[in-house]
Amino acid sequence: MFDDMKSFFMKRGDNKPGGFEERGANLEYFMHRDPNKDVTIITIANQKGGCGKSTTAINLSAVLVRKNFKVLMIDLDPQSHASLGIGVDVYNLNSSIYDVIVKNFRLENSIVNTYKENLDIAPAMPMLSGAQLEIADLLGREGILRTAIYKMINTSKRNYDYIIIDCSPSLNLLTINGLVAADFLLIPIQTHYFSLEGMGELFSTMKVVKERLNLGLQVLGILPTLFDQRTKMNRDILAQIKDYFKDRVFQSTIRMNIKLAEASASRKSIFEYAPDSNGARDYASLADEVIALTKPQKAAEENEAKGQKLQPDSA
Ligand SMILES: Nc1ncnc2c1ncn2[C@@H]1O[C@H](COP(=O)(O)OP(=O)(O)OP(=O)(O)O)[C@@H](O)[C@H]1O
Ligand SMILES: [Mg+2]
Repeated sequence: MFDDMKSFFMKRGDNKPGGFEERGANLEYFMHRDPNKDVTIITIANQKGGCGKSTTAINLSAVLVRKNFKVLMIDLDPQSHASLGIGVDVYNLNSSIYDVIVKNFRLENSIVNTYKENLDIAPAMPMLSGAQLEIADLLGREGILRTAIYKMINTSKRNYDYIIIDCSPSLNLLTINGLVAADFLLIPIQTHYFSLEGMGELFSTMKVVKERLNLGLQVLGILPTLFDQRTKMNRDILAQIKDYFKDRVFQSTIRMNIKLAEASASRKSIFEYAPDSNGARDYASLADEVIALTKPQKAAEENEAKGQKLQPDSA
């Protein structure tokens, strides 16, 4: 018993902060990540329903994998759209993110492979809708997912470059867990009437999370989605979004493209279903921006490689 708690105590005769391992790696997973693991955690949230969160989670993850990153998706929505859309049979799972949140299972035990190598998912099952009530009275309830993620990063052999978390259309305790676990928040906004309504609530929630639970949380960007260039209303709303959020809006806009809906229905990403579609082009462009913002070194290497490939032609 005492052996388990040794790392709770200050080391006698040594009050200098030690390295990651010295300070007791078995407990560090509560608050810190092993600095040698370069994983970027992005939570996709907006309490507005149907604004493209799950579509973005699936297709951003898929394009990151095509660019040789290892990606874990985490589905925090009891509707399980991200899990279903990537081909997981959510009615026949041994364990899911529910077990991680409610029963303290290890995250890595809930992970399943998808059809694509290097793209894994911790899926959601419909029973996740009960999780909120079950954890409502727990001490540290907002940080359950973060602890599970850090524990996996710090103590298991699983390595990911990106963890992409899909949230439900609500600012509930599960979404708060998503925000507490994240480095970055990505906010899809449909270019439609009333899309900006509710943004205040999302930002005030984020402010509280930042002040009390996750100081490092940053908005990665606002992503205009379901954009239909043919309608003046869509063009006006896009202009409003850009005017309001300025350079915090991604340069990429996700256009309305039926192939994206069809791809989800066929349980594949757009890159398998319709690689030449506008949907594929838009998500590829988003991924370039995301990589440039989160892993600038990798983006620079890729640009250099592209430049070298182009050189013989341009010479
Ligand atoms: N760019 C797009 N063009 C056409 N259809 C799209 C596009 N993006 C998403 N859709 C479709 O719109 C619907 C809502 O998208 P999605 O499920 O990604 O939104 P969501 O924000 O995750 O929804 P929820 O709030 O219910 O979780 C889905 O049927 C999806 O296939
Ligand atoms: Mg969704």
